[in-house]
Amino acid sequence: TNALRLGIAGLGTVGVGVVRILRKQAALLEARTGRRIEIVAVSARDAAKDRGVPLSAYAWETDPVALAKRDDIDVFVELMGGAEGAAKDAVEAALRSGKDVVTANKAMLAHHGQALAELAEAAGLSIRYEAAVAGGIPVIKALAEGLAGNEITRVMGVMNGTCNYILTRMEATGQGYNALFQEASDLGYLEADPNLDVGGIDAGHKLAILASLAFGTQVNFDGVELEGIQRITLEDIRQAADMGYRIKLLGVAQRSPRGLVQRMQPCLVPAHSPLGQLEGGTNMVVIEGDAIEQLVLRGPGAGEGPTASAVLGDICDLARGCRLPVFGQPAATLEAATPAQTGLP
Ligand code: NAP
Ligand code: HSE
Repeated sequence: TNALRLGIAGLGTVGVGVVRILRKQAALLEARTGRRIEIVAVSARDAAKDRGVPLSAYAWETDPVALAKRDDIDVFVELMGGAEGAAKDAVEAALRSGKDVVTANKAMLAHHGQALAELAEAAGLSIRYEAAVAGGIPVIKALAEGLAGNEITRVMGVMNGTCNYILTRMEATGQGYNALFQEASDLGYLEADPNLDVGGIDAGHKLAILASLAFGTQVNFDGVELEGIQRITLEDIRQAADMGYRIKLLGVAQRSPRGLVQRMQPCLVPAHSPLGQLEGGTNMVVIEGDAIEQLVLRGPGAGEGPTASAVLGDICDLARGCRLPVFGQPAATLEAATPAQTGLP
């Protein structure tokens, strides 16, 4: 009776992971939140596909917008992906129909997060996105909640596992970028558009989202200075190693005399630093604040289990009644989040 009712759009890697955890851990989740969490309806493109989890107990919607508007759901869980199109249409429909939203869609948030957050706020609803940045690492919660007493001075990190995998394999095998791009592709690591990964765009999306939260500014993906890893050569890697450094696709967001600076680019990091010891597909986010000094979060940035874990964290928050907006600041403050407000010219 008091169940939290979900509609899940997208039954790929992450969506299936979420269904699996909800089925396997139903009793644990109810004990933790005090509410039963039920899947009411699901949506994906191909109704006939075997997805390895039983789905017959849930209503099937071909159209994710129709799913988002259903009267019998409380929360719309968007796990389709894509900055535009079905995902954005369905999230807007959900917010206009009084549903809270949980999403893992960093591309949509980087481009439209501001407008969606304002839509949610105006309706007294919540849009939550823990899974959108650094997969299983609860970095959104850390910034929005645990570190709320800090003035954040810098956020940086390695936030694309595929790029870190390619770079660390170049070091380990002595094979060049092209061969290891192919290896990452064969292992299924690359996004449908691989340029999102190797061009630094996916990591740039994540950095823009974190920067907004850390500095209370509007999400500004266009303001991220971007460079990917496509031009890194074995010679670059050897020279870095000779000097005691490794090359990482590193995102940095910090205040500067010219305002908020957001950069995502290959950087030399000392081999013995926490960032320099990051291997394979792992992610790391380093947060610096006036009280905490430095916090290092490290963990799996992608994959079914870790990403679904983050989605479940958001769903459990909503089940507990925690519906605070977690995107930057309230809209009124965001409007005013100019350099003047941050003490910069
Ligand atoms: P995926 O495996 O490609 O799955 C996408 C799902 O969405 C599929 O089930 C697909 O249906 C469905 N879909 C796509 N367009 C649709 C439409 N127009 N109408 C209805 N259903 C539609 O993607 P994923 O890896 O699970 O990623 C989902 C989201 O999580 C993305 O935003 C991604 O960036 C984010 N994310 C993923 C990871 C990860 O490790 N995979 C990590 C962090 C965040 P069909 O199956 O029928 O084709
Ligand atoms: N393509 C992304 C990565 C998936 O490699 O990190 C997780 O967002």
